[in-house]
Amino acid sequence: MTDAKIIDGKAFSEKLVTQVAAEVEVFAKATGQVPGLAVVLVGENPASQVYVRNKSERTTAAGMRSIEHRLDCDTDEASLLALIETLNQDDMVDGILVQLPLPDQINADAVINAIRPDKDVDGFHVVNAGLLATGQESLVPCTPFGCLLLLRDQLGDLSGLHAVVVGRSNIVGKPMAQLLLGESCTVTIAHSRTKDVESLCQQADILVAAVGRPEMITDVHVKKGATVIDVGINRVPAPERGEGKFRLTGDVDFDAAAKKAGAITPVPGGVGPMTIACLLRNTLVAAARRHGVTIGKI
Ligand code: GUN
Repeated sequence: MTDAKIIDGKAFSEKLVTQVAAEVEVFAKATGQVPGLAVVLVGENPASQVYVRNKSERTTAAGMRSIEHRLDCDTDEASLLALIETLNQDDMVDGILVQLPLPDQINADAVINAIRPDKDVDGFHVVNAGLLATGQESLVPCTPFGCLLLLRDQLGDLSGLHAVVVGRSNIVGKPMAQLLLGESCTVTIAHSRTKDVESLCQQADILVAAVGRPEMITDVHVKKGATVIDVGINRVPAPERGEGKFRLTGDVDFDAAAKKAGAITPVPGGVGPMTIACLLRNTLVAAARRHGVTIGKI
C-alpha cells in the first residue's frame, strides 16, 4: 500500500491544452491567422511515427495548423537543411520540430542549429540552451518544462529544495537541471559514471529520473516524502499478458518507489502527456512573440 499522491499529468495537460486553445483563438482574432507547427520526420522509426501522428492530431485539436514533412530514410543532410531553410523563411510556420533520432548520415546538431532559434519549439538550439542557462527568455525544452509545471503544482515554491536529476541528456537532464536551478533548487546531476547514485538520490527532495533504464529507481533511492518524477517511457516484455506482449514502464519501479515517495508520476499518464501540451504551448509562444501578441504566463 502507498500513501503517495499520484500526480495526474494527463489531467494537468488537458487543462494546459484547453488554456492554449483559448489563447490560440485570441491570437487568431489579433492576427487573422493561426499558429503553424511544422514537424519533420526522416525515415520510418515506428516510435517516431507514433509521436509525429500524435503531435499533428493534438496540434490541430488545439486550433493550430499542422504541417507534416515526411522524408525518406536515405535523405541526405543537405536536403534536410534546405527544407529547414524553407521553413525558416515561411511566414506561416511559427514552430519547427525535427523528430529525433535522425538517420546516421545526418548530423543532428547541424540540423537543430539550422532552425531559426525563435521557431525552435523543441528548445534544443544552442541559442535557446544558452538563453536558458543564463536565465533569459527562451523556448524551453518541452519534457523538462512539463516536469517543472507538475513540480510547481505539487510543491509550490521550490526554492532551497534539493533536486537530483538522474540523466544528463541535452533533451531532458541538462535543461531540467537548468530549470530547477532557475527555481533556486540545489541541483545535483547524476549519470552513468556517478559513484553511489543510491545515496545521492536518498538526499533528494525532488528526484527526476531520465535515464532510459527501465525501473532502475526503486524504494532504496527515495527519501521518505520525496517527489518523484519519472521521465522514462520504456517498452519491456510482459509475458504475463501473453506471449510476445509488451508493457510501458518508466525509469522508476513505481510500486517500490511509491512506498516512500510523497508524490509520484505514473507511466503512462504522468510526464508523457505534458510533453505534447508544452509543445503546443511553445508553438503558441513562438507565434505570439513573432507577431507581437501578448499571451498569459504560466
Ligand atoms: N524524440 C524523442 N523526444 C523528442 C523530442 O522531445 N523532440 C524531438 N524533436 N524528437 C524527440
